[in-house]
Amino acid sequence: MKNQKKKIRLGVNIDHVATLRQVRGGTTIYPSILEAAEISAKAGAQQITIHLREDRRHIQDKDVELLCKKRPCLINLEMAATDEMLKIALKRKPDWVCFVPEKRQELTTEGGLDVVKLEKKLKKMVESLHKKNIKVSMFIAGDIKQVEASARIGADAVELHTGHWVLWKADKKRKEWQSLKAAALKTHELGMNVHAGHGLDFIDCERIKKLPFLEELNIGHSIICHSVFMGLNKAVKAFKKQIKH
Ligand code: PXP
Repeated sequence: MKNQKKKIRLGVNIDHVATLRQVRGGTTIYPSILEAAEISAKAGAQQITIHLREDRRHIQDKDVELLCKKRPCLINLEMAATDEMLKIALKRKPDWVCFVPEKRQELTTEGGLDVVKLEKKLKKMVESLHKKNIKVSMFIAGDIKQVEASARIGADAVELHTGHWVLWKADKKRKEWQSLKAAALKTHELGMNVHAGHGLDFIDCERIKKLPFLEELNIGHSIICHSVFMGLNKAVKAFKKQIKH
C-alpha cells in the first residue's frame, strides 16, 4: 500500500472544445484544438485525451493527425474497438489508446467496455498496438471480471468509469465506491496501472484521488465548463491543485 499516494497525472479531455467548433457544422476553425492542448500542457496537464467517435461529432481525423504530430504532451486516443479506428491509431501513433464502448445515440460514453465479451478481438488489437509502442487502457466499470479480462488481453492500464459514482447518491454511491476501490486494488495486483475518469467535477476530485494506486485522471467537461469563466489556463491549474495529495 506504500505507493498509494503517487502523483496523479492529469489528462485533459478536449473533445468539448471540438464540440464548440463543430456546432456551426464545421465551418469555423476556432476554437483551436491545438491551442487548447498547448494551453493545457503549459498549465500542467501531462496528457491530452481525445475521443475520435465513429460519427465524428466532435474530434475530427485532422485533429488526431495534428495533435499526434505536434504532441504538446502525452496523447491519449479514446476509440471504439473497430478496424477503422485501429488503422488510424496505428498510423498516428498516440502515446495511449483507450478502448471505449460506443453507441451512436448516447450523449457521452455511458457505460464501461465489455472486455470479457470482446476478449479475443481486443487481444489482437492490443498486440498490434504494442508492436508500435502504443500503450493501451480499457475503460471499464468497477467490475473484477472486467479487470481480470483486461489483464488477460495484455492491457497496460484500466480506466475506471467514475460516471455512475458521481451521479448516484447515498447507498448506491457507497456501493459504487466499494466496487471502484476493489477494482483498483485488483488492477494493481494484476500489474496494470489504475486510471479513472468520466463526469468528475471539482468537488469529486477531493474523493476520487483517494482511490488506491490511482495514477491518472481524465477530466473534460467540467474543466472546459469552468474555463468559460476563468480561462483554460486557470481551470487546468485549479484541477491540478485539487488532485494533489
Ligand atoms: N474518460 C473517458 C474514457 C471518457 O469517455 C470521457 C468522456 O469522453 C472522459 C474520461 C471525460 O469525461 P468528462 O468529459 O465527463 O470529464
